[in-house]
Amino acid sequence: MSSDDKTRALLEDAARRGIAYRETCVNRSVAPSAEAIANVRRFIEPLPEDGSDAAEVLAMLDEIGSPASVTMAGPRFFGFVIGGSLPVTVATNWLSAAWDQNVVMHEVTPATATLEQVALGWLIELFGLPAQTGAGFVTGATVANFTALAAARHRVFADAGWNVESDGLIGAPPVTLIVSDEAHPTLFKSLGMLGLGRDRVVRIATDEQGRMITAELPAIEGPAIVCTQAGNINTGAVDPIGDICDAVASSGAWVHVDGAFGLWAAVSKKHRSLTDGMQHADSWATDAHKWLNVPYDSGVAFVRNAADLASAMAITADYLLTETEHRNPSDYTPELSRRGRGIDVWAALRSLGRNGVASLVEGCCQHARRFAEGFVAAGFEVFNEVVLNQVLVSFGDDATTRAVIEAIQRDGTCWCGATVWQGKTAMRISVSSWATTGEDVEKSLRAMISIARRLVGSSA
Ligand SMILES: Cc1ncc(COP(=O)(O)O)c(C=O)c1O
Repeated sequence: MSSDDKTRALLEDAARRGIAYRETCVNRSVAPSAEAIANVRRFIEPLPEDGSDAAEVLAMLDEIGSPASVTMAGPRFFGFVIGGSLPVTVATNWLSAAWDQNVVMHEVTPATATLEQVALGWLIELFGLPAQTGAGFVTGATVANFTALAAARHRVFADAGWNVESDGLIGAPPVTLIVSDEAHPTLFKSLGMLGLGRDRVVRIATDEQGRMITAELPAIEGPAIVCTQAGNINTGAVDPIGDICDAVASSGAWVHVDGAFGLWAAVSKKHRSLTDGMQHADSWATDAHKWLNVPYDSGVAFVRNAADLASAMAITADYLLTETEHRNPSDYTPELSRRGRGIDVWAALRSLGRNGVASLVEGCCQHARRFAEGFVAAGFEVFNEVVLNQVLVSFGDDATTRAVIEAIQRDGTCWCGATVWQGKTAMRISVSSWATTGEDVEKSLRAMISIARRLVGSSA
């Protein structure tokens, strides 16, 4: 076989195997079998001195890896808020991987840079953010928080007469960081990575659903950043962002929104009121690999004043083509070299349209409400108000709830994880995949309730 023929056969084989995998996702067990997991050990081998045939490498990946994967791409994976990739985004991801573009500069990757710019513009419109908002594609909400907060850090220090990018933090004026008690751990991690400190924060108490209590905000003096959240990782609750913006407006504090999944409420007329007023914030972070259902990894950082983002992120070098009339993607992201992850976002938005995204979000929320109704009707307690796509279910005491969750995971009909909400263990259901149908919800409910009834009875 010529080298071209081998390449063609290899890529066709990859496509064939990928398609076959996706076709199994509807019916296969969500959790892999113990045997498949044990088989993963076959990957652990010494670094080969010499290479092997590419077709064999691919076959090894498929034969060992595919059976051992958790079916996150399927319709009944409800662990974490991580969606499942839309077929169109897998397809465009495959094609754009073949392009192998490095999205540093517009001039050398004009198609990708243009697609990303279009996708960012569409996202800004979809979320109803101010038209001049600047944005960048990053790996996920953790880095989106980091990126947006780097812009915040630039602005609040600049206003205090300090150039943090040039002079660093040693000797810098103090900045007040205000964070919800229920902020996601990655928000604290982002603050740590920015040198602002994970623990040097004023934590604001939250209500019973995990929403920041506006009245608990302190009087703010001097440079300050206030971090709000759209979408509590347990309850799905959204902070009263508009009220918080109003409450701190006179202080000039920067308001950031961690909207990893909750920002997507803004795209649906039915759920938009949850995010009322969030357009008044200064920066926003979200994930596309969660509710937009694109492949990993894909997050987006938005900053009201694009210049603040560019001040934190832009670089130049003689060898880079940074002198251009176009927007250079790397002026808005921590990375210099990276893949064109915005292509997947463009593909999702181009194929779904505004209404399709709204239906995706609304469908997941409706499924979540049905889960809650089903559990309550079966006599189990739901801990949260189901305002979005999150449901917290208890099967009794902590040990029983954990035992039920483990049995549900082993059963394989669906997959949900455990969490602790206000001191009590709960099963956490996150509905965020395009692939989940009403039938999947009923099938999962039947399986989970029957397991719970069996175990609750036996532990009583
Ligand atoms: C509110 C919130 N912020 C940040 C993150 C981190 O997102 P990622 O894992 O995409 O970095 C999550 C993840 O679930 C989240 O829910």
